[in-house]
Amino acid sequence: MEVIIQPSADLAAQTVAEIIAQALSAQPDLVLGLATGCTMESVYDLLVQKHQDQGLDFSQCRTFNLDEYVGLSPEDPCSYHYFMRRRLFDRVNIPLSHTHLPNGMASDLAAECVHYEDLIQANGGIALQVLGIGRNGHLGFNEPLSAFRSRTRVQTLSRVTRAQNAPLFPTFKQVPRQAITMGVGTILDAHRCLLLATGVEKAEVVAKAIEGPLTAMVTASALQLHPHCTIVLDAAAASRLQEHDHYHQAH
Ligand code: GLP
Repeated sequence: MEVIIQPSADLAAQTVAEIIAQALSAQPDLVLGLATGCTMESVYDLLVQKHQDQGLDFSQCRTFNLDEYVGLSPEDPCSYHYFMRRRLFDRVNIPLSHTHLPNGMASDLAAECVHYEDLIQANGGIALQVLGIGRNGHLGFNEPLSAFRSRTRVQTLSRVTRAQNAPLFPTFKQVPRQAITMGVGTILDAHRCLLLATGVEKAEVVAKAIEGPLTAMVTASALQLHPHCTIVLDAAAASRLQEHDHYHQAH
């Protein structure tokens, strides 16, 4: 695991955007795993800027998002489909047919989960999986006690997660109780994982994920098992790490 600590959240987002841009330039038909959440907004803004200023080309890229709420349509402003179109897909030259998110409206949710796994396989697997981290250590919506070998499935959201995401909904009651998420095993199958966490409110869970024991209670700790994982932090999110001085301090 490589840990890169940047002095500010802006620089941390720039590092992540640069790694994505380099991977895409090296392989234009890259299969990219994408994440939602406020942390990702600046990364997507930077990718849009690279598309506009440097011609970063998304035309051959294919994307798979980690998760989607059950019961929200793609047109719902609170859905992850909507988030991704607004923050990235509508602002770069990626054909919408190349973008994939689980269908939270599927009549057969179990079949949709199998279909999503098959689609990832049919596209050759995910080359670079971008990740955020929830306050309870979740990756995607893999809540505490998610098996490290879990695959795409329906997850019941914890109260902590629903509370964390509530500001993005009109009322707490409207936060869905379930989501479809790639499993921890699905995420670990990606060729490379790239996690971004910023802000002091993530410091404790980041320390648990990076330096704590492997535990399904903090699903991000599963990344310790991944052979090519890069974690990018700002100084605030890194502030609870024990081995702080040992990690890569970017200048
Ligand atoms: C949601 C997403 C996660 C994301 C998390 C962090 O729960 N399902 O994939 O990592 O939000 O969000 P934020 O960046 O807003 O802290």
